[in-house]
Amino acid sequence: MPYFSFVKFILWIQLVAILLSMTTCNTRSRQFVIAFSQCTNEDEWRRNMLREMERALVFYPEVTFIFENAHNDLKEQVADIEKLLKKPIDLLIVSPLEASALTAVIEKAYDRGIPVLLVDRKVNTEKFTAYVGGDNQAIGRQAGHYLARLLNKKGHILEISGLLGSSPSLERHAGFIEATRQYPDLLVSKEIYGDWEKEKAKIALEKVINKYQSIDAIYAHNDVMALGAYEVCKKYGLAERVKVVGIDALPGKSGGIQMVLDKKLEATFLYPTGGEEAIRMAMKILRKKPFPKVNFLPTLSIDYDDALVWKNQTDKILNEGKVLALKEHRLAKDQTLFQYFTLLVMALFVVIGLILVLLYQSARKKKQLRLYTDKIARQNEELEKHTNELKDTQQTLEHRNEELEAQQEELSRHMEEIMTLQENMEQKQGQIEKTNEDLEDQKVTLERLYFQLKIKNNAITDSLRYAKGLQQTIFPGEKELSQIFAEHFVVYHPKDIVSGDFYWMYRQKHKVFFVVADCTGHGVPGAFMSIIGYSLLKEIVVLKKIHQPDHILSTLHREVVKTLKQFESDINDGMDAVVLVLEAMKGVDKINLQFSGAKNEMVYINHQEMLTWKGDKQSIGGYSIGGKPTFELKQMTLEDDSGTIYLFTDGFADTPNPKRRCFGSRKLKTMMMESAHLPLTEQQQIFNEALIAHAQGTAHRDDVTLIGLKPSFDLLKDQQV
Ligand code: FRU
Repeated sequence: MPYFSFVKFILWIQLVAILLSMTTCNTRSRQFVIAFSQCTNEDEWRRNMLREMERALVFYPEVTFIFENAHNDLKEQVADIEKLLKKPIDLLIVSPLEASALTAVIEKAYDRGIPVLLVDRKVNTEKFTAYVGGDNQAIGRQAGHYLARLLNKKGHILEISGLLGSSPSLERHAGFIEATRQYPDLLVSKEIYGDWEKEKAKIALEKVINKYQSIDAIYAHNDVMALGAYEVCKKYGLAERVKVVGIDALPGKSGGIQMVLDKKLEATFLYPTGGEEAIRMAMKILRKKPFPKVNFLPTLSIDYDDALVWKNQTDKILNEGKVLALKEHRLAKDQTLFQYFTLLVMALFVVIGLILVLLYQSARKKKQLRLYTDKIARQNEELEKHTNELKDTQQTLEHRNEELEAQQEELSRHMEEIMTLQENMEQKQGQIEKTNEDLEDQKVTLERLYFQLKIKNNAITDSLRYAKGLQQTIFPGEKELSQIFAEHFVVYHPKDIVSGDFYWMYRQKHKVFFVVADCTGHGVPGAFMSIIGYSLLKEIVVLKKIHQPDHILSTLHREVVKTLKQFESDINDGMDAVVLVLEAMKGVDKINLQFSGAKNEMVYINHQEMLTWKGDKQSIGGYSIGGKPTFELKQMTLEDDSGTIYLFTDGFADTPNPKRRCFGSRKLKTMMMESAHLPLTEQQQIFNEALIAHAQGTAHRDDVTLIGLKPSFDLLKDQQV
C-alpha cells in the first residue's frame, strides 16, 4: 500500500473512532453556554430555583452553565451581567432584583443578539426573548378573594409589600386591590415594605403595630415576610385573631406549607420557582424551536386542609428528588467514568495509530536512508574520481606553472640582458655617433682617395687595354686560321681586360701545332703567365723543334718550373693545356691527328659521333716540382675532313648563372653534338648566345675560351701557305 494511502487509512479509522466516541458521550454535537444572573441566592425559594435548574440541566450535557449571585445588590447584579456579556455565552437568564435599575443592561444584552430569558421578575422593556414565572397579578387576585371569603367580606387588611420597584410586588398588589375592591366592607392598608425579607418585615410592622391593633388579616407578598408578621402578632397577642396569608408555598421544614400546618399562616399561594421550566425554555430558544414569549406557571391556594396532602406529596417529591439527585450524582459519576474510559480508548487508538504511522515512517525512512546511502556512496565514488582528475590537472598545472616560472625567469634574464644590451647599445650609439663623425671625416678623405684612385684606375685600365692589344698579337689571326682550316670559330671572353687563356698556332709545312692553354689565375698575372707560356711554346716547338705533343707538354712543364724558379719557391702557378698536331699524310687524303692534354680535353665530332680525348691529370708547372711528369700521346687518322675539333678551357663549363649554377661540361658537349652539323660561324653564334643566356649578366668566374676547327686536306697539304 502506498505511503499516503496507508496514512489516510489510519486517519480515517481514528476519525470514525472519535465520531463514535462522541456519539456515545453526547447525542448532540452543538455545545451551548447558558449564563444565569440571580438577584440573590440567600433564601430557600431562590436556592430551590437553582436546584431545579441543575436538575433540568442533567438532561442537557451539551450545556455549560455559568451562575452569578448578586446578593440582593442592584449594582452587583448590573456588574454581573456586564461581566457575563464579555464571555462567549449563547443565552442569558436573568431574575432581576428590581425592574428599572436592570432594564438598560438587559436591553444591551438583547441588542447584542443574545437571547434573554427573564425568570420570576420582569423589567421595564419589551427587549427580552421570553419570560417564565408565576402570574403575580392572578396570585394577588386569588389572595384578595381568599381573605374576603375568610373575613366574610368585611374587615381590615394590612398589606406587607415586597421590594419597591420589583415586578412581583407591583403585580401582587395590583391583583389584590383588584379583587378586594369588589368587597366594599374590606379595608386594605398598605404602608409596610419588607423587601421580601422576614426581619425587615418584622421591623417595619413593629413600628406601626400599635396603629393596627384592630386589623383582621395580614396579606404578605411572600411566606417569609408573612412568618415575620405572625411572629410580631404573637408578640403583641394578636396571633389568635389576625389571619396571616403569604405566597410561595415552598415544601420542607421551613417552607410555607409547614407554616400553614403549624397554623402560623392561614394559607399560602403556590408560586413555582420556574427553575426547570426556565432551562427547558432556554433549550427551545437555543434549538430554534417555537416558544411563547410569556409563560405563566400555575398557582393555587393551600390552606390547612390542603397542606397535609401537599406536605406528603412535596415530602415525597423532595425524597424522590434526593434519590434522584443521588442517582443523578452516580449517573454523572458513571458518565464521567465512561467519558474517561472513552477518552482512554480514543487516546489508545490514537497512540496505536501514531505508533503504526511512526513504524511505517521509520521503515520508509530506513529504506530512503539506504537509498540515500547508496546514492552518497555513488556520489563519493564520482567525487573521488573527480578529485583524482583534479589532482592530475593540478599536477599538470603545477608542472606547467614550474615551466612558466622557468620561462619567466629566463625572460627576466633575457630582459636583464636586453637592458644591459640596451645600455651598451646606448653607450655604443654614443660611440657610433662619434665614429660616424670620424667616418664622415674619413668619407671625405676616402672620396678624395677614390677620386685619385679613379684617376689611377683609368690609367691602369688604359694600360691594360693596351696590354690586351699586345696579348692579342700572340693569338693566330682570322687570316692565319682560314689558311689552315676549312672553317673555324673562336669564342673568347677574358674575365678581365687581359686574359689567362691563350691559344697559339704554328705551321711547319704540312704540319700544324695548335695549343689552347688556361694559365693559373686571370687578369694581369694570368696574362703574364700566358706570355711566358707563349714564349716557351715558341722556344720548344719552333727553336728546339720538339714536335710530339706529349713531349711538348712535358718540356713546357720543365721550362715553366725553370722560368718561374718553382724549384726554389712555393709559387705553384702554371697552366692547363692541350696540344694538337695535325699532319697531312703523304699520298693520301688523310690527316694524322696527335693529341696530349694537361688536365684539359679535346672533342672530335664526325658523322654524329663524338670522340673525347681526356688529358692527363697533370697540370703544367706548380705541384710537380722536382718530378718528371709524362703525358699520354693519343693519335688517330682522319679518313675524311668532315669532322670538327673542339678545344676549350674550363671557363665555359664553369660559368655561373645568378643562382651560382655552372653551365656544365655535359651541357656544353650536348650543344656540340647538336650543332656539329652546322656551319662553324653559326655554331659560334649559338655558343655565344647560350653563354650570355646562361650567365644573365653574372660576372664570369674565369676566362672563357672555346675554339671550333674543321681541318682541311687541301689546306693542310698546301705547302705554299
Ligand atoms: C424570593 C422571593 C419569593 C417571592 C419572589 C418574588 O426571593 O422573595 O419569596 O415570591 O421572590 O420575586
